[in-house]
Amino acid sequence: MSKQPIGIFDSGVGGTSIWKDIYTLLPYENTIYLSDSKYAPYGNKSKEKIVALSIKNTERLLEKDCKLIVVACNTATTNAIKTLRETYTIPFIGIEPSIKPAAFQTKTKVIGILATKGTLTSELFHKTTNLFAKGITVVEQIGEGIVPLIENGKAQSEEMKSLLKTYLIPMLDANIDCLVLGCTHYPYLIPLLINILPKHIKIIDSGEAVARQTNAILEQNNLLNTQITKPKIQFYTNGNPKIIASLLGEKFSVNYLNF
Ligand code: DGL
Repeated sequence: MSKQPIGIFDSGVGGTSIWKDIYTLLPYENTIYLSDSKYAPYGNKSKEKIVALSIKNTERLLEKDCKLIVVACNTATTNAIKTLRETYTIPFIGIEPSIKPAAFQTKTKVIGILATKGTLTSELFHKTTNLFAKGITVVEQIGEGIVPLIENGKAQSEEMKSLLKTYLIPMLDANIDCLVLGCTHYPYLIPLLINILPKHIKIIDSGEAVARQTNAILEQNNLLNTQITKPKIQFYTNGNPKIIASLLGEKFSVNYLNF
């Protein structure tokens, strides 16, 4: 059982940022990553559509015998994880914007969050914000257009830089001192963000917390791989494999899969 792979899916290439955190913390685990790039972005789709796509991805990962699934997508987590947990018996780990750590760290009492429309309008996001950001001003910004640029290999482009500036300047004017990255595609923007944002602004994402939670749930369920051997790592996409390969580096191969 423990040798079975961990399944990870996202609307596209962004969840590889979470896969990297999981691989760093759990280097002996076998993993299968599924990138649903053909249907990206999820961010503007209806809740019903996001649930249906999340079920489709889950079914593919279950066919590949996964022992646990990481929903490496804020939009899919905030809209579909409840249904997934109610439908399947294996454990699901989700990712949500790190509002709590940001609310804890802010000195100006103003935090910014960049995420998709699907995440920012979800019930789960509002619940978390009401619970953990009492007395804090949360400046929300939909990152319209960011995911398609990353899906097309333009994470570091001039086009991206000017788009980010239009989203970030109002947040800076509002005096944020923390920026929450509420989408798993956005850690790939960190080099540009460091360039645009003043040094005192903290950039907060949830990748390491998701990896820690994955470890804890595997341990609790006796599912950790006890074999200290080179893991089998598989990446599948229904989009262009070259985009993921460029985000991962030479070491890993990415295969096309029609799903
Ligand atoms: N990586 C997804 C997320 O974390 C991107 C959503 C999208 O496809 O719009 O929200």
